[in-house]
Amino acid sequence: MYVLITGGAGYIGSHIALSLLQKNHHVIVLDNLCNSSPLALTRVETLSGKKITFHQGDIRRRAVLNQVFNHQPIDCQKASPLCFKPGKITDKYEQLAMAKLIFSTSYLEYCSADNIYATDLITLQLRQNIQPFLQQIAAIYSSQGKMVGFVNAAPIQDYDHIKVEYGYRQEVFPLDVAYDSFVNQHRQPDDFFICSVALLPEEQGKGYFNQILSQLVEQATQRKMRRIILCVWQSSPASMIYRKKGFKVIGSMKQEVARFNDEIVFMALTL
Ligand SMILES: NC(=O)c1ccc[n+]([C@@H]2O[C@H](COP(=O)([O-])OP(=O)(O)OC[C@H]3O[C@@H](n4cnc5c(N)ncnc54)[C@H](O)[C@@H]3O)[C@@H](O)[C@H]2O)c1
Repeated sequence: MYVLITGGAGYIGSHIALSLLQKNHHVIVLDNLCNSSPLALTRVETLSGKKITFHQGDIRRRAVLNQVFNHQPIDCQKASPLCFKPGKITDKYEQLAMAKLIFSTSYLEYCSADNIYATDLITLQLRQNIQPFLQQIAAIYSSQGKMVGFVNAAPIQDYDHIKVEYGYRQEVFPLDVAYDSFVNQHRQPDDFFICSVALLPEEQGKGYFNQILSQLVEQATQRKMRRIILCVWQSSPASMIYRKKGFKVIGSMKQEVARFNDEIVFMALTL
């Protein structure tokens, strides 16, 4: 396999390079040598008895990356491509898996914290009914064909014609109504709305989220949207991740602070 190691002349990169060469992979290194010496690579070549393809340059420069990727194909870049399958063609088993995930990943998770009747989450979610949203949902599969999660995202106006009966629990009905009006207050006509991005717990931390976000940015750009918007609980790990990706907080909904000790924030990424 052809593997690109960025920062490959550094401490960790050079050790990985040696290990890959010993396993007969081809190693391509991109490094600007700001904190390393080309001598490290020469030593790796000596130890392994194999050659490294070295590009000296800054990873932040598009022209440098084009040069690296145009020079030769790099398999690692395609090692675990994700496949998106429209929700409407998924089977019942997969739809159930998605329904299960929704509660753990959207603002609805807090409803389960307030689940006074201890109804199981799948039953709750089935009552909430994902059927009307299947057009906007895409199930996500790893290169091994395993479903790893799903994404529910589309231009905001595509959601407008969806009529949903809120059937999961009366006591969170006011939260739903407040949420809808909060979104309506901040949305703009050319927004691309991420309702939910969910990865199964065992599939998190594998770099899938970055791929999903890139895919969504591409979709939104193709549809000529100006912003990507979403709502998350302020203190959730997701809120921190989206901030790191450049999303800015536009507004916050304090309606349920007393009950959940948290607020929902509206975030936007300008494209
Ligand atoms: N060494 C550790 O124990 C350790 C532990 C956890 C995390 N990390 C992280 O792993 C990464 C690598 O660590 P390391 O110890 O190998 O560091 P390092 O400084 O030895 O290697 C980083 C390499 O990246 C290169 N580089 C820096 N900026 C670049 C740029 N803009 N374009 C191209 N190349 C660039 C440097 O020249 C260097 O060769 C770092 O982000 C570090 O924070 C390291």
